[in-house]
Amino acid sequence: MTIDPSWISGSGLGSADAFLTGRPPVKGCRVALLGFDGVGQAVVRNLCERRNAGIRLAQIYNAEGSPRPSWIPTEIAWTTDPRTIDLSDFDIVVDLAGDQDRSREWIRSALEAGKSVVTASKHVMARHGPDLLALARARGCQLRFEAVVGGSVPMVSGLRDGLAGDRLRSLVGILTGADNYILTRIEWTGGTFEEAVAEAQRLGLIGDNPADDVEGHDAAAKLSVICGIAFGRQIVFEEVPRQSMAAIEAIDFQYAARLDCTIRPIAYAERRSGGLSAWVGPALVPRASMLAHLHGSQNLLITTGEATTRTGFFGVGAGSRAIAVAVVSDLLALVSDGPRHPSRMPVPTRAHVVTAETDIRRYVRFVVHDRPGIIAELAAAFAAERIGIESVLQEPTLRRNELVFVMTLDPCPQPALDRAVVAIEACDFHIRPPLALRMLDPAVG
Ligand SMILES: NC(=O)c1ccc[n+]([C@@H]2O[C@H](COP(=O)([O-])OP(=O)(O)OC[C@H]3O[C@@H](n4cnc5c(N)ncnc54)[C@H](OP(=O)(O)O)[C@@H]3O)[C@@H](O)[C@H]2O)c1
Repeated sequence: MTIDPSWISGSGLGSADAFLTGRPPVKGCRVALLGFDGVGQAVVRNLCERRNAGIRLAQIYNAEGSPRPSWIPTEIAWTTDPRTIDLSDFDIVVDLAGDQDRSREWIRSALEAGKSVVTASKHVMARHGPDLLALARARGCQLRFEAVVGGSVPMVSGLRDGLAGDRLRSLVGILTGADNYILTRIEWTGGTFEEAVAEAQRLGLIGDNPADDVEGHDAAAKLSVICGIAFGRQIVFEEVPRQSMAAIEAIDFQYAARLDCTIRPIAYAERRSGGLSAWVGPALVPRASMLAHLHGSQNLLITTGEATTRTGFFGVGAGSRAIAVAVVSDLLALVSDGPRHPSRMPVPTRAHVVTAETDIRRYVRFVVHDRPGIIAELAAAFAAERIGIESVLQEPTLRRNELVFVMTLDPCPQPALDRAVVAIEACDFHIRPPLALRMLDPAVG
């Protein structure tokens, strides 16, 4: 990044307009930026690099006690005192604070005052998106949230504008770059889940508490938001069935390879009568699918529509600089429209998740103390729920005291599988609980 030092010092310019919009100074939209950590800093640095953008960053507000960094131009006001912030004083408010409750309050009060907002908060949009979008529409301003899903990949505008002419049926994707990094690292290094998480933390892909990512909360929030755009129906994200990645081991990639698959963190949704079927979690994907070729923190969304069959959105899905691109793109769109331009974003209705996963095969991995009769007991438990066994796989091993093998199952209803797994878990031969994963059909991804 190159920043003209005279801009930083402000020498010869005398105003934030000049700093951010080039010479000669032009009048720009007054912007307040709330929250100044990784993404906030990347946004300010990005803005520092552009001229004549019509964006006038007037104020940064950060958590109490945080010192003003020396590189911020003097023309930009800096405050950590919430009493000094009056959101009605700005044309656009950018919410980049990690605090959901505060973010929602700020967004609501800015929209109430008729000010357009750009936010990166997936949890606020997943929980309150429809209400906030309705408020923006009622107040004749805009709420933009490209950064919420897909990192720098324009999934929100791509679906809203680019595919508005189609009727979408389903979407499948990898929406969580950190999760994809963790799984691909286990695959490549043969290491443990814990080692992969530690490495993702070291790289700054996830924070101190990885549960949001690895337990699927993040993916469910993003899926909920993207469903609102793709289907006009935003699912209640707490209802999205989630599966943790924590039980995945390197051996699962070996068995997946025998099935000509690999394992990726998948988010899936499709229209069903009565609602949307949706789930998030690690799943086997065929090696030939585009999803299998995503490595590290990349994101991919594939939509299937009535006219467009398959359309893909692919790119960098994580990291402050990538997220900043989405935020700044939203800002530029607002400036181009004029911040008082009414929202064109359709307001989604809320939809419940219907569980209808009857058409997906399963992979179930067992780690057991070997003894005669295990396969017969498992077959009986599955047969009791009318679940057909498709295949049994076992890598050659001499370790009878910790035997690993896999069964693949015919498509079956989720409740039947859940009941069978509960019955199987009660058996005395397990060393570790069985791990059941979905197997995506080659036609899906
Ligand atoms: N990082 C990513 O890759 C990514 C990806 C997609 C979306 N996002 C979203 O982008 C936003 C910003 O991300 P980030 O990684 O920069 O978040 P972050 O590390 O949580 O930083 C948020 C900043 O806001 C400040 N803040 C939090 N609550 C505040 C409050 N009540 N009043 C004033 N300041 C407050 C924090 O200060 P303290 O540190 O002192 O609390 C921190 O400086 C979040 O909504 C996040 O979910 C991030």
